[in-house]
Amino acid sequence: MGLSVVILAAGKGTRMRSSLPKVLHPVANTPMVQHVINAAKAVNADNINLIYGHGADVLKSTISDSELHWVEQAEQLGTGHAVIQSLPHLPDDHNVLILYGDVPLIKPSTLERLLNTQPENGIGLLTVVLDDPTGYGRIVRESGNVVGICEHKDAAGNDALLAIQEVNTGIMAVNAELLKTWLGRINNDNAQQEYYLTDIIALANEDGAPIVAAHPDSAVEVEGANDRVQLANLEREFQRRAAEALMREGASLLDPSRIDIRGSVTVGTDVVIDANVIFEGEVHLESGVHIEANCILRNCSIGAGSYLRSHTLVENSIVGENCTLGPFARLRPDSEMKNNSHVGNFVEMKKSTLGEGSKANHLSYIGDSEVGQKVNIGAGTITCNYDGANKHKTIIGDGAFIGSNSSLVAPITIGENATVGAGSTVSKQIEDDVLVVVRGKAVKKTGWKRPVKKAKD
Ligand code: UD1
Ligand code: CA
Repeated sequence: MGLSVVILAAGKGTRMRSSLPKVLHPVANTPMVQHVINAAKAVNADNINLIYGHGADVLKSTISDSELHWVEQAEQLGTGHAVIQSLPHLPDDHNVLILYGDVPLIKPSTLERLLNTQPENGIGLLTVVLDDPTGYGRIVRESGNVVGICEHKDAAGNDALLAIQEVNTGIMAVNAELLKTWLGRINNDNAQQEYYLTDIIALANEDGAPIVAAHPDSAVEVEGANDRVQLANLEREFQRRAAEALMREGASLLDPSRIDIRGSVTVGTDVVIDANVIFEGEVHLESGVHIEANCILRNCSIGAGSYLRSHTLVENSIVGENCTLGPFARLRPDSEMKNNSHVGNFVEMKKSTLGEGSKANHLSYIGDSEVGQKVNIGAGTITCNYDGANKHKTIIGDGAFIGSNSSLVAPITIGENATVGAGSTVSKQIEDDVLVVVRGKAVKKTGWKRPVKKAKD
């Protein structure tokens, strides 16, 4: 049987106090609704329908998924009314799974469980038992069987109903043909004057269709984010899971509560990550990588045995094996450090390659450069790559030695084993094995007296 998914995302999300539609607020840098779409894909949905109401333009430009069916619910008349909008897109012979755009932590394994417990010609309903069920729809059972859902507001004054702690998560699975017949029979005759999706439970029960409940691993999986406080809680839970997964992969996290993974991180063995490290995009850490506190790694790979000292930022770059970086090193996009190379404190690289065994240990800018092997770049060396209009390349041959506080004015080529004397500004090509020193001549005056200030009257 094919599987159609309907994701409800038409609510305005007033409590976010934001111009951004609620479901676009991010968890781990990814819009909430994208997490839900990913979960739908993980259970092999054949057809995903997103019910939207507010912010169509920004939604469509952010979630650019060609397989998605966009279904407008112009007026939010209730969850049942929302699902009704999608009915023309649901083939009769499909099973339908209903999800929520603001419930991003739902696990595919939980959805599989729900789909597996769903009875034939009946409804699989995801429920959870809460200490405080206030606000939720209560699961009404008779002789143990689910027979209906009573919304909190409709239970007003009925203590027996209000005392029920098993609540509706909203997530359910139901055959499309049956869903269509039951949704055709709901009305808005209730406390909120809304068309409730939950009313199909009592209708199914009336028709003798079985309703079987399944449960998530924990309640947080089915929590929605209505405001930024709840959103932050979901973020922490997401990060807790991501940290745990990383530790199971073999990484040591010195404090699993102080790591942020906003993307995917793959690790080899014996990787050590200290506190407050942030990962974004796709990051790969080979075996034995050690990352000190407060580093940020964005779309990069770090080779085996490399060591990142604190406050190092690596972005869209490749670091080879046994390299050392930082503290306070910055690799901007398109940089590559070959094996056994080093960049020290306050060294910035951009669109540059640092060859095997080469070092820039202190206070340097290396931009648009190709640095060969075993090159020593002295403290304070700057590649002057920009003339105000264009960027130019610096090429430094193997074994070259650039003395401290030198400026290399690009375009420039420095030959193999060439030496640039400290404090030089070089702007012409330097051949192999040559020493160049460009330095102002020392002026020396013996017995020099500095001017003295006149005494005030
Ligand atoms: C709903 C359930 C309730 C359940 C709770 C779980 C109904 C009638 N009630 O209540 O049993 O315990 O969720 O959180 O289904 N939405 C639309 N269009 C609409 C109305 C809602 O897309 O016309 C979307 C909202 O954006 C939201 C979701 O559906 O993502 C739930 O709507 P909400 O109004 O929050 O339902 P609850 O009253 O919380
Ligand atoms: Ca809700």
